[in-house]
Amino acid sequence: MPSIIEDATPRTNFTVVGDVLPSQILAGSRLSYYIAISVVLFCIWLFQSDKQKCSVSAPFYKASRLKWMFSADTLIRDSYSKFRDTVYQIKSTEGVRTIIPSSLVGELKGLPEDTLSARTAVKEAMLSEYTNLCAGSHSDTLSLLLKCKMTGQLARMAPQLKEELEYILATEFPECQEWTPFKIQPFMVRTIARLSGRVFVGPLLNRTEEWMDVSINFAITAFIAVIKLQFFPPWMRPVAQYLVSELRTIQRDLEKAQNMLTPIIEERIRDAETPGYDKPDDFVQWLQDALPEDQKTDFYIQGKMQLLLSAASIHTTSNLTTDCIYDLAVHQDMQEILREEVREVLCDDEAWERKDSMGKLKKLDSFIKESQRLSGNVTSFIRKVMRPIDLSDGTHLPAGTNLLAPMAGVAVDPRYYPDPEVFDGLRFWKLRQHQRSPSSSSSSFSSPPAAPTTLDEPTLNANGRWQFTSIGDTAMNFGLGKHACPGRFFAGCEIKMVLAYLLLHYDIKLREGEGRPTPNMFMMTKSPSMTAEVLFRRRSAV
Ligand code: HEM
Repeated sequence: MPSIIEDATPRTNFTVVGDVLPSQILAGSRLSYYIAISVVLFCIWLFQSDKQKCSVSAPFYKASRLKWMFSADTLIRDSYSKFRDTVYQIKSTEGVRTIIPSSLVGELKGLPEDTLSARTAVKEAMLSEYTNLCAGSHSDTLSLLLKCKMTGQLARMAPQLKEELEYILATEFPECQEWTPFKIQPFMVRTIARLSGRVFVGPLLNRTEEWMDVSINFAITAFIAVIKLQFFPPWMRPVAQYLVSELRTIQRDLEKAQNMLTPIIEERIRDAETPGYDKPDDFVQWLQDALPEDQKTDFYIQGKMQLLLSAASIHTTSNLTTDCIYDLAVHQDMQEILREEVREVLCDDEAWERKDSMGKLKKLDSFIKESQRLSGNVTSFIRKVMRPIDLSDGTHLPAGTNLLAPMAGVAVDPRYYPDPEVFDGLRFWKLRQHQRSPSSSSSSFSSPPAAPTTLDEPTLNANGRWQFTSIGDTAMNFGLGKHACPGRFFAGCEIKMVLAYLLLHYDIKLREGEGRPTPNMFMMTKSPSMTAEVLFRRRSAV
């Protein structure tokens, strides 16, 4: 989700498993009641007036709202192949969206919040007025802590992450002495929740089922609440909110998080009085240190920031890790190629903790980026125009215009990615080897991100643009500009660790005759199958 923090995004940025939805929504004893209400609302919604305000002078791509709901991927690809370098518009479930091509997005990415706002766009997309899903005045603190405290210190966290990974594999992954079918998606969600939780709240809380439950399900509950609210026209929502039980669950979860964190923070405040006290090194502490004096004992803020952080990070990262496993199972030849690289780089225990180790996994980096290219966000760059903007092609964007970038189309544009439909796990690695490529001479990529002092390469050179964490006008899976995902370096580190470990210890394949599991598409959200089984077999030699 975009960042749910700001409220969710492009994926609409709430990359939450779509097929969780029907079962969750329909669960419960009052099934028929819900079905009846849903059918009525669905009809109202489907036939409600199409006269939406659209003051941008740009062509429309005609498509039903149903297409936006259930096959946004195809909708964006089809419309992109028709308009490509032109600004165009689509009617979404929440009004008109103006689609900005890669050739023009560069003119917008540097604009200030008071002209082009990411925060307002996400806030509106997440219906924060009702869901309370917004970091508000703490948004900047949150991003800053991720950039400075987390990204800058990834190497220091590596031992804890590895320990956590080994723990969950030992306790929740099957033995796999023979080929063993396993539903990898739910396992990946728990694994990423554990790894992230270790850094977010520390080891005391992150292994408790109560924390796992609230940190994983908060995003799903929020997603369902937003979807349900969207079925009501805006004028009905002030009343309709009382029919959406998930809104109450969100409040309960926020209280639960606060209650779980309170004794931990109180103890830390007490311990800080002791001379020589060694502060814990996790997000709770970083935030505690960053909060102004009068908010240091407002534990609700801590709970809320933690759940927003979990919502922005757990499903996005676990979805991509799952997609990588599906791609590894399909492209078996890649397993030994990547394993060889992992063996070379992570040759002993200390190598896992070395500052530059993850950055050296360049083939693995390329594989993950290629998985993301074909399975990632449908749209990106969710923004709202706050002051009128004129683009160089003559398009006038009045205040109030809602923007999106057509990621699903850009990702398969042959001008940027030759043979775009082919999965080539080494695509970006080859580009890094050659440094220059057909598209690199066009100025479609923004300059590489500031050099992270992380497990990634310490200095980005000319080929930095092809790294998993690099962003640019044609590579917007992590967004663009000031609000680009500040957690992407951490995500890259987690995904590499999990894949490297699994590659070293297991062979992976699909059942005979089965193809790559079909992703779920729902409301701009694309997510890997939750139910598909992949076969794993433990390797005798690492
Ligand atoms: C593969 C995993 C991830 C993907 C695909 C992803 C994607 C995104 C995208 C598309 C945005 C919106 C950027 C924009 O609008 O320009 C975003 C924002 C954000 N993400 Fe991520 N993200 C991932 C992992 C994470 C992780 C692990 C964290 C935290 C540790 C995180 C924290 C955030 C935050 C706080 C924002 C809001 C930034 C702002 O508005 O200034 N994300 N992410």
